Amino acid sequence: MAPDLNINSIPCISVGLKDRGYPIYITQGFSIFEGLFGVVPFGGSAVVVTNSKISPLYAAALRDEISSRYSAVFDIVLPDGESYKNWESLNEVFDFLIQNHCDRSTVLYALGGGVIGDLTGFAASAYMRGIAFVQVPTTLLAQVDSSVGGKTAINHPKGKNMIGAFYQPKVVVCNVDALKTLPERELSAGLAEVIKYGPIFDMNFMSWLEGSIDLLVKKDSASLAYAIQRSCEIKAHVVEQDEKESGLRAILNFGHTFGHAIEAGMGYGTWLHGEGVAAGMVMAAELSARLGMVDANFVQRLKALIQRAGLPVQGPVLDAARNAERYLELMRLDKKSEGGEIRFILIDGPGKAVLRSVPDELVKEVINDCCA
Ligand code: NAD
Ligand code: GLY
Repeated sequence: MAPDLNINSIPCISVGLKDRGYPIYITQGFSIFEGLFGVVPFGGSAVVVTNSKISPLYAAALRDEISSRYSAVFDIVLPDGESYKNWESLNEVFDFLIQNHCDRSTVLYALGGGVIGDLTGFAASAYMRGIAFVQVPTTLLAQVDSSVGGKTAINHPKGKNMIGAFYQPKVVVCNVDALKTLPERELSAGLAEVIKYGPIFDMNFMSWLEGSIDLLVKKDSASLAYAIQRSCEIKAHVVEQDEKESGLRAILNFGHTFGHAIEAGMGYGTWLHGEGVAAGMVMAAELSARLGMVDANFVQRLKALIQRAGLPVQGPVLDAARNAERYLELMRLDKKSEGGEIRFILIDGPGKAVLRSVPDELVKEVINDCCA
């Protein structure tokens, strides 16, 4: 059992949502919860929801650290991959909870990347009309984005994250050391979500990223810790003002309208979420430039940063005969669409984002010029 160590010296960001508010701890150390034993919620039983790749790496350590808080700690090990963020996996979690007599005092632990975090959060939101859950994100993407803010979901075959709920965790614990085992491609995918915070909100952060991107790609711990901290600060600030995305929060979806179309169009798991977002940010920036909202230098600067992070700057061709139409079809399913009209997050001058609809013809032009 880990003792309550130096909790005050661990960087902590608060998500100020009154009774739904919670801390995000950014920690380093051998064990997932080093120093944080005191902050996890009490409960009857705990269930660690994870996948077949992460379980052998971190599940035992997490279980050891939390076991004295609960009468029993169970594991649910799901298959790995975006294609399993679906109804069958969700039902597997519900079946397990029911079979093991889990009740309203049960606490779920999401140990993994965004797939596990989104699915576990949704399970927690619905089981017995809502039980507590803790986010223990183990990918960079999950540490800087998906574990914070309470968006939970599974995919529908016709659209990404279509079935879900806003449901906040009780605490988020980001252990930078968990990233040591993360494959390079996954790290780069996470960097896409880090990079997005620059153009939409903080150009000083973008400049810092331009100076630090090589260290980040090499997994330098101090650089990663700062990138996670600044990303979480910005995300917390946005979520505090607009928890359920009635306005401002949509800016966090910069690049995602194109990105989600890429993910769905290629088949979930073919392009990683962050890769779709990376190419999508270039397309959205290009759209902004053609509307006169930013200059060509800004697009080049963003493109160069994305490229240095090891990410794609061009979208894939989804349909050789009617590529732009295929993108439009998929983008009409985006949750930001209204009455079939697609709305994009555009950059309205560096560091400021807006939500706008754009004539289809201009979108098609950009798709044609930005796909290969
Ligand atoms: P992921 O959860 O599939 O994880 C990526 C891969 O890395 C998986 O194979 C996983 O098993 C493996 N992995 C995880 N941690 C590891 C570690 N420490 N060492 C070795 N391997 C490890 O993908 P992701 O990029 O973390 O998340 C993508 C998902 O997040 C998408 O479904 C996306 O829709 C969602 N998302 C949600 C939000 C939100 O606000 N809720 C925001 C962004 C993305
Ligand atoms: N990842 C976008 C959001 O949380 O709103």
